[in-house]
Amino acid sequence: MSKFIIEGGNPLNGEIKVAGNKNAALPIIAAAALTDEDCIIENLPAIRDVDVMLEILADLGKRVERTAPNVYKISGAIAKTRVNDALANKLRASILYLSVILAKTGEVEMVPPGGCIIGRRNVDSHFDVIESFGATLEFDEKNYKANLSSPRAPYIFLKEASVTATENAMLLAASVTGETTIENAASEPHVSDLADVLKKMGAGISGRGTNRLSISGKEKLSGFRHRIMPDHIEAGTLAIAAAATKGEMIIHDAYHEHLRMTYHYMKQMNIDLEFLDHQTLKVRPSDPVSQAKKIQVGLWPGFPTDLMSPMIVLATQAKGTTLCHDWMFEGRMFFVDKLIIMGAQIVQCDPHRVLVSGRTMLRGQELSSPDIRAGIALVIAALTARGMSRIDRVELVDRGYEDIAARLNKLGASIKREQ
Ligand code: EPU
Repeated sequence: MSKFIIEGGNPLNGEIKVAGNKNAALPIIAAAALTDEDCIIENLPAIRDVDVMLEILADLGKRVERTAPNVYKISGAIAKTRVNDALANKLRASILYLSVILAKTGEVEMVPPGGCIIGRRNVDSHFDVIESFGATLEFDEKNYKANLSSPRAPYIFLKEASVTATENAMLLAASVTGETTIENAASEPHVSDLADVLKKMGAGISGRGTNRLSISGKEKLSGFRHRIMPDHIEAGTLAIAAAATKGEMIIHDAYHEHLRMTYHYMKQMNIDLEFLDHQTLKVRPSDPVSQAKKIQVGLWPGFPTDLMSPMIVLATQAKGTTLCHDWMFEGRMFFVDKLIIMGAQIVQCDPHRVLVSGRTMLRGQELSSPDIRAGIALVIAALTARGMSRIDRVELVDRGYEDIAARLNKLGASIKREQ
């Protein structure tokens, strides 16, 4: 396990470019299993979750080559129908292999996917999806097994607008002839990035970016070359880090259309931020005040749950009281006990709601990262705090943020990594 040793108190100043979108990269890597032709993926973030998705592809029999920094070429055919157990266990997104292996071979087996512990994230919506295409499914808590001999293009109404269940439905729909309709689909930017890739592979897609997708599939899909879109969660995280440390930061590849709700909440907190053009965000030092009173996650285009943890840290630096509400995940808020140890005044009302009173001077502490997003929130808290913090288990932060210590150090942070 590795640690970050962080000396707090330095404002983050300077310019930084946002990395490729993690949650777009993962389904797009899985999409490469749908074809035997060459697939070139550019702007893949160099993060642990991407490595694991690529390792699964290689284990299935694909040739995976890194041809330049952040660029991979994937070629050949898959030769197995079982996802490697140890790799499947490492991340929740391994469930995206359920649909692509099934589409390509007519059968698939895997252990339940692993991932961050931020609540009871069951897989019913994924099972509903694959069964609607005509698959038969056997499963227990140790193994999932599905067969699909004569696929049909279904009408699907998702009981939850789940991101990865929508993606599994899209991946299967692209390779089944006929028109599939997915209603109550998730519409996050990364879902649209996958739609763009499936179009390049030969599928017909309408409704991109909406909650009703129509997909005309093809039995034989072609290869693709695609540049992964920038990660709006990283962009928002950097903007929050700049605001919390009172730095002046220019963030490149921060797309305005992906940050509307984040921008709105930060403006309401009196943060001085401005789009210099449609993909460049500037944050200036400001005096945060809780005018929003309530910050609440929403389905897209609402405020992303993956930015809630960093936003709570910013709320500790805002004058006044902020109610932060994440109804999506049962476990998202529990990391606030670590902020309380640092001196934050937070009352946890229930598993989904915390009341943050600011502004408080945070103090450096011994901490441990519980999940990707809480991990980066603790990094921001430590950068904001007086004194030194040690954050353990930063491999969880590595799962989602490329070379984050070095990139933040270039902005004036003091972060050392220790084994
Ligand atoms: N949910 C609802 N109602 C809905 C939609 C979702 O209650 O209409 C709940 C679910 O029950 C679940 C949570 O919200 O508890 C998230 O559901 P979803 O199925 O959408 O999550 P996911 O597909 O497993 C993806 C991201 C997560 C991100 C969520 C929500 C990937 C690989 N993962 O997960 O990312 O938090 O969507 O936007 O795309 C992360 O990057 O750290 C991460 C956890």
